[in-house]
Amino acid sequence: MGIQFTPDQQKVIDLRDCNILVSAAAGSGKTAVLVERILRMICDDSHPVDVDRLLIVTFTNAAAAEMRERIRLGLEKKLEEHPDNTHIERQVTLLHNALITTIDSFCLFLLRNHFNEIGLDPAFRIADEGEVRLMQGEALEELIEASYASGSEAFRYCVEFFCPGGRESVLEQHILNLSRYAASFPWPARWLKERKEDYGAASVEQMCASSYALWLREHLRRLLSGCVEKLERVQELCEAPDGPYMYGELVDRELEQLKALMPTWGAEQKEDMGEEILNLRTKYAIKLEDRKRLGRLKDFFQRDLIRSNPGMTSVKFREALEELKRRTFGKED
Ligand SMILES: Nc1ncnc2c1ncn2[C@@H]1O[C@H](COP(=O)(O)OP(=O)(O)O)[C@@H](O)[C@H]1O
Ligand SMILES: [Mg+2]
Repeated sequence: MGIQFTPDQQKVIDLRDCNILVSAAAGSGKTAVLVERILRMICDDSHPVDVDRLLIVTFTNAAAAEMRERIRLGLEKKLEEHPDNTHIERQVTLLHNALITTIDSFCLFLLRNHFNEIGLDPAFRIADEGEVRLMQGEALEELIEASYASGSEAFRYCVEFFCPGGRESVLEQHILNLSRYAASFPWPARWLKERKEDYGAASVEQMCASSYALWLREHLRRLLSGCVEKLERVQELCEAPDGPYMYGELVDRELEQLKALMPTWGAEQKEDMGEEILNLRTKYAIKLEDRKRLGRLKDFFQRDLIRSNPGMTSVKFREALEELKRRTFGKED
């Protein structure tokens, strides 16, 4: 006798032709459901699929082995029920070569079988973490040295901008972080290029219309509306019969200030942010220190952000790392 699946499990088993994300606690039957889906696809009467046409990816080798075993058991059970079914019989044989594997092993499999199509050396191997870290450090050191030696104005500015006080390790950490973060995108080089363009604004207005300024505004808008919601709740509490009425006036005032900020900082509006900030400064009693900081925003943009643009393009770490790999492992002619 098989498992009696719950209605939710059954739904996951039956759903076809779309992406599905199943999130459930450990031991709640995710693997069982996945195995059942696979068995149904393999043993479907109208469109039977060969098991080695599926790609089944798990996080660990142990999970992959468990999955293969569970599918094998399922197939054997089906074969007991239909001893004459040659399709199922064949699947038991095909299962040995089925791609039930971790994502790392699958990528390796793909590269080993298609290295020629992307011009990869067939003798390639996977570097271990420690080795990668050493190479990154070496590439970075060479790159920074060469950049200093070149006397490039852009690089000098980059150093000035990112490591005030001349702490080079800060710049190095920035470069490594950025490189690692970029590597988590499908097209790291493209992502880096787009981020570089973020610094391409020629005026405060252009900066305000840029994708990151819009993102920032949307972020602030959400932050503010969250604050407004909470303060409105506080206001209700203050107004309750036995509420702390003495805070009411203060809460009212703060709510008014927050609400006044909302519409002008909405993502859909593109007025001059400098103007808005000026209004903020005069309209509300903002601490002197903050007022000074806000006032310097425009100066900061003109002095630093515009000038930093060439600096953004001056450090080519990914290229340097590739170059070092080629030098270290490349075949000598
Ligand atoms: N509806 C169900 N009825 C009875 N047993 C179930 C049911 N769903 C799952 N199980 C059993 O519960 C155990 C854990 O399921 P499993 O698929 O390994 O969970 P998960 O992958 O979510 O950790 C397995 O022995 C499985 O056969
Ligand atoms: Mg599981």
